[in-house]
Amino acid sequence: MQTIKTYVEANTDRFLDELIELLRFPSVSADPKYKDDVKNAAEFVAQKLRDAGADKVEVCPTEGHPIVYGEKIIDPTKPTVLVYGHYDVQPPDPLELWETPPFEPTIRDGKIFARGACDDKGQFYMHVKAFELMHATGTLACNIKFMIEGEEEVGSDNLGVFVKANKQRLAADVVLISDTAMISLDTPSLETGLRGLSYLEVTVTGPNRDLHSGVYGGAVANPITILAQMIASLHDENNHITIPGFYNDVAELDAAERKALNEAPFDENEYKADLGIKAVWGEKGYTTIERTGIRPTLEINGIWGGYIGEGAKTVLPSKAHAKISMRLVPNQESDAITKLFTKHFERIAPDYVTVKVTPHHGGQPAVTPTDSTAYRAAEKAIEEAFGKKPIPTRGGGSIPIVSLFENELGLKTVLMGFGLDSDNLHSPNEKYDIANYFKGIETIPLFHKYFAELS
Ligand code: BES
Ligand code: MN
Ligand code: MN
Repeated sequence: MQTIKTYVEANTDRFLDELIELLRFPSVSADPKYKDDVKNAAEFVAQKLRDAGADKVEVCPTEGHPIVYGEKIIDPTKPTVLVYGHYDVQPPDPLELWETPPFEPTIRDGKIFARGACDDKGQFYMHVKAFELMHATGTLACNIKFMIEGEEEVGSDNLGVFVKANKQRLAADVVLISDTAMISLDTPSLETGLRGLSYLEVTVTGPNRDLHSGVYGGAVANPITILAQMIASLHDENNHITIPGFYNDVAELDAAERKALNEAPFDENEYKADLGIKAVWGEKGYTTIERTGIRPTLEINGIWGGYIGEGAKTVLPSKAHAKISMRLVPNQESDAITKLFTKHFERIAPDYVTVKVTPHHGGQPAVTPTDSTAYRAAEKAIEEAFGKKPIPTRGGGSIPIVSLFENELGLKTVLMGFGLDSDNLHSPNEKYDIANYFKGIETIPLFHKYFAELS
């Protein structure tokens, strides 16, 4: 631990400056106008891996954005850790709500504000710096492979192709990912599951053209009203999802598992105050922790149609649209849920309209074992760095590729995230606490040490 602290202290400013440099690339994977910036970010990451001591570093082209690969094999008989992360970020919109511009990283109050600060540049870069530290101090305990992709925020389609084509190159003993959250620095935790996702877009069409709302209104169904009614019917009075068969494959936790989950510290008043809401909402019979961890959900991500410009326009629009996502839990299956939704949504459409459902990306849920060598190594590393054993929690977000690592590479994952729920992921003013960044850099070498020792 002393070697780690000494090295980090001697390099604090540079470690921070490099992250700031990385955060300046607007590597927005969703928007083609940033294609070159995404590529430049990949080149930057590759160079930093080389500088840190990695071999065979490559910016691997794909049909979409490139994947950065690099490795250090110290001894083939030692265990191998495959580090996964993503250097792409979500679009920064709405720009006007940022206190400082998203790609001009700014430090305020011990936190670094920028798009990608926590998700996932600040988090995967801890692994690059921890690797530098281990390499420079001669303390590498495991072989290490890096696979840092540029399409996580758009569904990782090409990573799947890359993984299938590079099974040998990616052979490892465990996947280590920092792209999730912990409760706090005072209450460290490890996520042991991720939800899956089914994402679709719906269009409801009424009349074959926009109509004058005075001439036709009252006699022709307004597709926005119909869409709103259809959407409202997707939850019942207990906030259960009404799609037939939706819950069929949901793995129910037993009373002991639910009790353990609910022992994690959670202050509902603080939660409400932080979000500016008067009451929490959700599926009857479940706590907030359960609603965001072990239960599936359905959310409307966006809804539009008709006239939304300046002033007023009296129109009965022809079309209404919505983007809808469902978070899935074991053992729900993304494609099956997409089909169930589509069938249901078509069935509930009244004769006044036609509906079209277009699937977007999806992903399988995943649970990670808590009885593995890698989990114990993470637990010990956190205990040593934080002075407290981490609490296992179930994360609400999705990293679709985790189930692919298991299916294609036969690898289990450890989700050693250092973010906080309050880091404003995908939202204006995303931030990462500098303390978390350095705590991560200190904890990661301990993971490698204990993983080698326990393996
Ligand atoms: N890092 C997040 C996932 C996450 C966030 C997991 C917080 C646990 C806690 C990841 O970058 C992400 O945003 N994933 C998307 C899915 C993807 C297919 C766009 C998500 O969860 O919406
Ligand atoms: Mn992420
Ligand atoms: Mn994300």
